[in-house]
Amino acid sequence: MTEIEKLKLELKQVNAEYAGIRDVPAEERAEFGRKINAKKQDIIAKILAAEKAALDAEVEALDVTAFTAPNEPVPEVYPQDYGSRHPLTMELERVAEIYQMMGFDVVESRQLDDEYHMFDSLNFAKEHPARDGYDTFRTEEGLIPPAHTSTMQHRVLKKYRDRLARGENIAVVVPGRVYRNEDVDATHEHTFYQCEGVYVSRECNMGQMLGILREFFEKYYEQKLEIRTQPGYFPFTEPSLEFMIEKPKSLGGKKGDFLEMLGCGMIHPNVLQMAGIDPKEYHGFAWGGGIDRLVMLRYGIKDVRYFESGNLNFLRNFR
Ligand code: DAH
Repeated sequence: MTEIEKLKLELKQVNAEYAGIRDVPAEERAEFGRKINAKKQDIIAKILAAEKAALDAEVEALDVTAFTAPNEPVPEVYPQDYGSRHPLTMELERVAEIYQMMGFDVVESRQLDDEYHMFDSLNFAKEHPARDGYDTFRTEEGLIPPAHTSTMQHRVLKKYRDRLARGENIAVVVPGRVYRNEDVDATHEHTFYQCEGVYVSRECNMGQMLGILREFFEKYYEQKLEIRTQPGYFPFTEPSLEFMIEKPKSLGGKKGDFLEMLGCGMIHPNVLQMAGIDPKEYHGFAWGGGIDRLVMLRYGIKDVRYFESGNLNFLRNFR
């Protein structure tokens, strides 16, 4: 029996007691009536409180995420266990885990940044046309939703530079959401994800960087891969490379199908210097690449726009 049912039973009993008033001597009836009535009011107050508490609990347990957006057809009300995490969230975690296993720390990027971190701290010369190449959005206050996760390089270098003095290395990856004001099509989104890597030590070289990148991609795609590089240009690395992998057969590729996966290079001495790290003593390499593209290849997703579409038929494939 629930609390409310018990109280209602008590109320019935009190009402029955009240019927006994007939047998009470006339001079005691008023007192008798007052007592019974007080008991009754007390029980009614308790019933109301219990009913309110039960209703509150019910509202609290209501899962609003079980309902689809108003513009989606609603074939049924989905039970709670139909929900799932977004594929990019799951894959970002997987990416971070692989790097963590390789000894990297993970720092999250931010959603609003400034001119200094977007360009200056990355050795973009003032008024250099390369600044326009990033198609940045700007707020009315002149802030920038980051167009790449490289905006975090300066912060990460400063945050961890004390490690170098202690004889340790800086090894950090920075996953994050980035934004570009460009035309949207099957391979371009205004909102997408990147993962940045930063490594600094006394002795390090491009060979180590390529080793780390190969290891990452082979772990992510769970197979051996052919890699290739070609020269690139980024103001914050010198030399700069574009890193490619051969599209695996198991993912619909054929021999010689190379896909560009990220930009990378040896960190420019000016970038280290601006973060208070002596480029004569320390060297570093860095890389940054799109997560959406990585995930699209893994699952054979043909159009990047699916990720931000909120399309339930797409999302249900990743339950
Ligand atoms: N931030 C570059 C982009 O979005 C990619 C990149 C290139 C990142 C070279 C790096 C790097 O860290 O060293 O196009």
